[in-house]
Amino acid sequence: MLVTAAIAVLPCAGGSADSLQFPKPDRPVARIVSPAYSSEEARDRKGEAEHVLNRLGVRAGLRVADLGAGDGYYTARLARRLGPSATVYAEDVEAGHLDRLRARLTRDGITGVTLVHGTPGDPKLPEASIDLAVLSHMYHEIENPFEFLFRLRPALAPGARLAIIDLDKPTREHGTPPELLRCELAAVGYHEVDVMSLAPADGYLAVFVPPATLPAPEAIRPCRQ
Ligand SMILES: C[S@@+](CC[C@H](N)C(=O)[O-])C[C@H]1O[C@@H](n2cnc3c(N)ncnc32)[C@H](O)[C@@H]1O
Repeated sequence: MLVTAAIAVLPCAGGSADSLQFPKPDRPVARIVSPAYSSEEARDRKGEAEHVLNRLGVRAGLRVADLGAGDGYYTARLARRLGPSATVYAEDVEAGHLDRLRARLTRDGITGVTLVHGTPGDPKLPEASIDLAVLSHMYHEIENPFEFLFRLRPALAPGARLAIIDLDKPTREHGTPPELLRCELAAVGYHEVDVMSLAPADGYLAVFVPPATLPAPEAIRPCRQ
Protein backbone atom coordinates (compact mmCIF):
# COMPACT_ATOMS: atom_id res chain seq x y z
CA MET A 1 0.00 0.00 0.00
CA LEU A 2 1.25 3.46 -0.86
CA VAL A 3 1.42 6.01 1.91
CA THR A 4 1.28 9.66 1.09
CA ALA A 5 2.71 11.75 3.94
CA ALA A 6 5.78 13.87 3.14
CA ILE A 7 9.32 12.79 4.06
CA ALA A 8 10.58 15.15 6.75
CA VAL A 9 14.26 15.86 7.42
CA LEU A 10 15.70 16.86 10.78
CA PRO A 11 18.94 18.82 10.32
CA CYS A 12 22.23 17.82 11.88
CA ALA A 13 22.77 20.15 14.82
CA GLY A 14 26.56 20.19 14.37
CA GLY A 15 29.10 19.93 17.20
CA SER A 16 27.69 19.48 20.67
CA ALA A 17 28.48 22.01 23.40
CA ASP A 18 28.08 19.17 25.87
CA SER A 19 31.45 18.51 27.49
CA LEU A 20 30.79 15.06 28.98
CA GLN A 21 33.80 12.74 28.64
CA PHE A 22 33.25 9.08 27.78
CA PRO A 23 35.83 6.26 27.90
CA LYS A 24 36.90 4.87 24.54
CA PRO A 25 35.98 1.25 23.70
CA ASP A 26 38.84 -1.13 24.51
CA ARG A 27 38.74 -2.83 21.08
CA PRO A 28 38.97 -1.85 17.41
CA VAL A 29 36.15 0.16 15.79
CA ALA A 30 35.36 -0.90 12.23
CA ARG A 31 35.54 1.74 9.48
CA ILE A 32 32.39 2.80 7.64
CA VAL A 33 32.76 1.11 4.26
CA SER A 34 29.27 0.63 2.83
CA PRO A 35 25.65 1.81 3.19
CA ALA A 36 24.37 -1.79 3.18
CA TYR A 37 25.28 -5.08 4.80
CA SER A 38 24.65 -7.10 1.64
CA SER A 39 22.13 -7.38 -1.19
CA GLU A 40 18.51 -6.94 -0.11
CA GLU A 41 17.43 -9.82 -2.37
CA ALA A 42 19.84 -12.22 -0.67
CA ARG A 43 18.74 -11.05 2.79
CA ASP A 44 15.07 -11.46 1.92
CA ARG A 45 15.69 -14.90 0.41
CA LYS A 46 16.94 -15.94 3.86
CA GLY A 47 13.99 -14.20 5.53
CA GLU A 48 16.10 -11.79 7.60
CA ALA A 49 13.79 -8.80 8.05
CA GLU A 50 10.65 -10.93 8.28
CA HIS A 51 12.24 -13.00 11.05
CA VAL A 52 13.48 -9.91 12.93
CA LEU A 53 10.26 -7.89 12.66
CA ASN A 54 8.13 -10.89 13.70
CA ARG A 55 10.35 -11.63 16.71
CA LEU A 56 10.17 -7.97 17.73
CA GLY A 57 6.38 -7.90 17.30
CA VAL A 58 6.52 -4.88 14.97
CA ARG A 59 2.94 -3.75 14.30
CA ALA A 60 1.01 -0.58 13.44
CA GLY A 61 1.35 2.08 16.12
CA LEU A 62 4.93 1.27 17.15
CA ARG A 63 7.36 4.19 16.69
CA VAL A 64 10.63 2.88 15.35
CA ALA A 65 14.10 4.25 14.56
CA ASP A 66 16.49 2.59 12.09
CA LEU A 67 19.89 3.77 13.35
CA GLY A 68 22.69 3.55 10.79
CA ALA A 69 19.95 3.14 8.19
CA GLY A 70 22.31 3.28 5.19
CA ASP A 71 20.41 2.24 2.06
CA GLY A 72 17.32 1.59 4.18
CA TYR A 73 16.90 -2.19 4.12
CA TYR A 74 15.06 -2.02 7.46
CA THR A 75 13.60 1.48 6.95
CA ALA A 76 11.63 0.35 3.88
CA ARG A 77 10.39 -2.85 5.49
CA LEU A 78 9.48 -1.13 8.76
CA ALA A 79 7.53 1.61 6.97
CA ARG A 80 5.67 -0.94 4.86
CA ARG A 81 4.77 -3.08 7.85
CA LEU A 82 3.70 -0.10 9.99
CA GLY A 83 1.43 1.20 7.23
CA PRO A 84 0.00 4.64 6.45
CA SER A 85 0.35 6.01 9.97
CA ALA A 86 3.98 4.84 10.31
CA THR A 87 6.41 6.74 12.52
CA VAL A 88 9.88 5.71 11.35
CA TYR A 89 13.10 7.65 11.92
CA ALA A 90 15.92 6.70 9.54
CA GLU A 91 19.18 7.98 10.99
CA ASP A 92 22.74 7.92 9.68
CA VAL A 93 25.96 9.90 10.06
CA GLU A 94 26.66 9.98 6.32
CA ALA A 95 24.75 12.75 4.50
CA GLY A 96 25.27 10.99 1.15
CA HIS A 97 23.58 7.85 2.44
CA LEU A 98 20.59 9.90 3.60
CA ASP A 99 20.37 11.61 0.18
CA ARG A 100 20.22 8.23 -1.54
CA LEU A 101 17.70 6.93 0.98
CA ARG A 102 15.49 9.98 0.42
CA ALA A 103 15.52 9.30 -3.33
CA ARG A 104 14.68 5.64 -2.73
CA LEU A 105 11.73 6.43 -0.47
CA THR A 106 10.34 8.91 -2.99
CA ARG A 107 10.82 6.47 -5.86
CA ASP A 108 9.12 3.63 -3.95
CA GLY A 109 6.28 5.80 -2.59
CA ILE A 110 7.26 5.07 1.01
CA THR A 111 6.35 7.83 3.47
CA GLY A 112 5.99 8.29 7.19
CA VAL A 113 9.79 8.33 7.39
CA THR A 114 11.76 11.15 9.01
CA LEU A 115 15.41 11.26 7.95
CA VAL A 116 17.82 12.28 10.69
CA HIS A 117 21.44 13.32 10.23
CA GLY A 118 23.10 12.17 13.44
CA THR A 119 26.65 12.55 14.66
CA PRO A 120 28.89 9.58 15.56
CA GLY A 121 28.16 10.07 19.27
CA ASP A 122 24.52 11.14 19.11
CA PRO A 123 21.65 9.87 16.94
CA LYS A 124 19.87 13.21 17.57
CA LEU A 125 16.37 11.83 17.97
CA PRO A 126 13.60 13.79 19.70
CA GLU A 127 12.99 13.03 23.37
CA ALA A 128 10.74 10.02 24.18
CA SER A 129 10.01 9.63 20.47
CA ILE A 130 10.56 5.90 19.87
CA ASP A 131 9.39 2.51 21.14
CA LEU A 132 11.99 0.49 19.25
CA ALA A 133 15.49 1.28 17.95
CA VAL A 134 16.93 -1.07 15.31
CA LEU A 135 20.72 -1.09 14.86
CA SER A 136 21.51 -3.39 11.96
CA HIS A 137 25.13 -4.21 11.07
CA MET A 138 26.33 -0.87 12.40
CA TYR A 139 27.15 -1.25 16.13
CA HIS A 140 30.80 -2.19 15.40
CA GLU A 141 31.19 1.07 13.41
CA ILE A 142 30.10 3.39 16.23
CA GLU A 143 33.18 5.40 17.21
CA ASN A 144 32.19 5.60 20.85
CA PRO A 145 29.38 3.16 21.69
CA PHE A 146 29.21 4.37 25.33
CA GLU A 147 28.50 7.95 24.29
CA PHE A 148 26.07 6.82 21.56
CA LEU A 149 24.07 4.62 23.96
CA PHE A 150 24.10 7.34 26.63
CA ARG A 151 22.82 10.03 24.25
CA LEU A 152 20.25 7.68 22.68
CA ARG A 153 18.59 6.98 26.06
CA PRO A 154 16.42 10.16 26.25
CA ALA A 155 14.85 9.31 22.86
CA LEU A 156 13.55 5.99 24.20
CA ALA A 157 9.95 6.17 25.41
CA PRO A 158 8.83 4.17 28.49
CA GLY A 159 8.92 0.44 27.63
CA ALA A 160 11.18 0.98 24.60
CA ARG A 161 13.61 -1.68 23.35
CA LEU A 162 16.89 -1.67 21.46
CA ALA A 163 17.35 -4.39 18.80
CA ILE A 164 20.89 -5.05 17.58
CA ILE A 165 21.63 -7.22 14.55
CA ASP A 166 25.24 -8.14 13.97
CA LEU A 167 27.65 -10.94 13.08
CA ASP A 168 29.38 -13.01 15.75
CA LYS A 169 32.84 -11.90 14.57
CA PRO A 170 35.53 -9.59 15.95
CA THR A 171 34.73 -5.89 15.54
CA ARG A 172 37.65 -5.40 13.12
CA GLU A 173 35.86 -7.93 10.86
CA HIS A 174 32.56 -5.99 10.98
CA GLY A 175 30.86 -8.00 13.69
CA THR A 176 30.39 -7.84 17.47
CA PRO A 177 30.77 -10.96 19.62
CA PRO A 178 27.52 -11.29 21.66
CA GLU A 179 29.42 -11.35 25.01
CA LEU A 180 31.21 -8.11 24.12
CA LEU A 181 27.91 -6.51 23.07
CA ARG A 182 26.25 -7.58 26.34
CA CYS A 183 29.17 -6.19 28.36
CA GLU A 184 29.29 -2.82 26.56
CA LEU A 185 25.52 -2.36 26.77
CA ALA A 186 25.56 -3.31 30.47
CA ALA A 187 28.30 -0.72 31.06
CA VAL A 188 25.71 1.96 30.19
CA GLY A 189 22.95 0.15 32.11
CA TYR A 190 21.16 -1.62 29.24
CA HIS A 191 19.93 -5.14 30.04
CA GLU A 192 19.65 -7.99 27.51
CA VAL A 193 16.16 -9.55 27.33
CA ASP A 194 16.41 -11.72 24.20
CA VAL A 195 19.07 -13.11 21.87
CA MET A 196 18.71 -15.47 18.93
CA SER A 197 20.52 -16.69 15.84
CA LEU A 198 18.99 -15.42 12.59
CA ALA A 199 19.94 -18.61 10.68
CA PRO A 200 19.45 -19.24 7.80
CA ALA A 201 20.06 -15.46 7.58
CA ASP A 202 23.39 -14.10 8.80
CA GLY A 203 24.22 -13.17 12.36
CA TYR A 204 22.15 -12.74 15.48
CA LEU A 205 19.51 -10.47 16.99
CA ALA A 206 19.99 -9.22 20.55
CA VAL A 207 17.32 -7.18 22.33
CA PHE A 208 17.96 -4.82 25.24
CA VAL A 209 15.93 -2.62 27.56
CA PRO A 210 17.40 0.73 28.64
CA PRO A 211 18.26 1.73 32.21
CA ALA A 212 15.90 3.82 34.32
CA THR A 213 18.92 5.92 35.27
CA LEU A 214 22.09 6.41 33.25
CA PRO A 215 25.51 6.00 34.91
CA ALA A 216 27.85 8.96 35.19
CA PRO A 217 30.07 8.86 32.05
CA GLU A 218 33.23 8.64 34.20
CA ALA A 219 31.82 5.53 35.94
CA ILE A 220 31.51 3.61 32.64
CA ARG A 221 34.09 0.81 32.33
CA PRO A 222 35.07 -0.44 28.83
CA CYS A 223 35.02 -4.17 28.07
CA ARG A 224 37.70 -6.43 26.62
CA GLN A 225 36.98 -8.25 23.35
C1 LIG B 1 27.05 -1.71 6.97
S1 LIG B 1 25.95 -0.34 6.93
C2 LIG B 1 24.42 -1.14 7.42
C3 LIG B 1 23.22 -0.42 6.83
C4 LIG B 1 21.87 -1.02 7.18
N1 LIG B 1 21.56 -0.82 8.59
C5 LIG B 1 21.81 -2.48 6.82
O1 LIG B 1 21.50 -3.31 7.68
O2 LIG B 1 22.05 -2.79 5.65
C6 LIG B 1 26.39 0.62 8.39
C7 LIG B 1 25.73 1.98 8.41
O3 LIG B 1 25.92 2.55 9.70
C8 LIG B 1 26.23 3.92 9.55
N2 LIG B 1 26.93 4.34 10.78
C9 LIG B 1 28.18 4.08 11.19
N3 LIG B 1 28.44 4.64 12.38
C10 LIG B 1 27.31 5.29 12.75
C11 LIG B 1 26.92 6.06 13.88
N4 LIG B 1 27.75 6.30 14.91
N5 LIG B 1 25.67 6.57 13.91
C12 LIG B 1 24.81 6.34 12.91
N6 LIG B 1 25.11 5.63 11.79
C13 LIG B 1 26.34 5.10 11.72
C14 LIG B 1 27.07 3.97 8.27
O4 LIG B 1 27.11 5.25 7.71
C15 LIG B 1 26.33 2.95 7.40
O5 LIG B 1 25.30 3.56 6.67
